[in-house]
Amino acid sequence: MTGEASHRTAIITGASRGLGLVLARRLAEDGWNLIIDARGEDALESARAELSRITQVIAIPGDVADVGHRAAIAEAAREAGGVDALVNNASILGPSPQPNLLEYPLDVLEEVYRKNVISPLALIQALRTELKPQARIINVTSDAAVEPYAGWGGYGSSKAAFEQLSNILAAENPGLRVYRVDPGDMRTRMHQEAFPEEDISDRPHPEESVPGFLELLRGDLPSGRYTARALTTNASTTTRDS
Ligand SMILES: NC(=O)c1ccc[n+]([C@@H]2O[C@H](COP(=O)([O-])OP(=O)(O)OC[C@H]3O[C@@H](n4cnc5c(N)ncnc54)[C@H](OP(=O)(O)O)[C@@H]3O)[C@@H](O)[C@H]2O)c1
Repeated sequence: MTGEASHRTAIITGASRGLGLVLARRLAEDGWNLIIDARGEDALESARAELSRITQVIAIPGDVADVGHRAAIAEAAREAGGVDALVNNASILGPSPQPNLLEYPLDVLEEVYRKNVISPLALIQALRTELKPQARIINVTSDAAVEPYAGWGGYGSSKAAFEQLSNILAAENPGLRVYRVDPGDMRTRMHQEAFPEEDISDRPHPEESVPGFLELLRGDLPSGRYTARALTTNASTTTRDS
């Protein structure tokens, strides 16, 4: 893959920690150029400094919900000559612990939807002329989008909306590959926020989800819903659309 991918550029949102950073490391090793973001400037700079030792990386601090920040990402994509992949990974859980729906503050729910649904679509819109033919869009979802876990109504329903948005985007744009991907439980800050009282050290490291993402980025699988770890174990719960 090294060499073959040396000219490729990927945007990964939320790449200062967790899954986004681990995926960025792996793509950097494979020769991809990267455009990354996150809100926290120090952690993003630390990621940029690490990744720039192995590839070209542009780090743009900011919130995907901010229109000016999205325009800055689009400008960087233009200067890079377009992008081969967009990974909409940045996401928020909402309150920790998560409230049940009957008590869920609606202004907070709106914020969760803005960050998890509207903003990634807005980023895709901002990048529409920068996506190369056959570009891959990976929208990171969760099993909480489809399972009725009590307490997960805010985050889970935002991911459900994100999934259907991805599904329809794929139908409307057959030239693109639009993947909605469940990475599975991962030992990250978001997971700790979701289970604030629990020891989550038994959860898999995000590295265990990365091979599935590479499969989608390297291969030519049809648009659809994929479970990252199943992609490499064949215990697939994949739903393919085309
Ligand atoms: N962890 C799990 O068990 C699990 C399970 C299923 C699905 N997922 C999904 O996997 C993806 C990655 O989750 P993770 O566990 O790696 O989360 P994480 O450790 O909390 O990392 C999230 C990353 O996104 C950035 N971010 C959050 N909101 C942002 C915003 N509005 N604009 C720009 N950057 C933003 C964060 O940096 P800043 O906070 O500094 O912005 C951080 O770099 C998410 O889509 C999540 O929903 C996670």
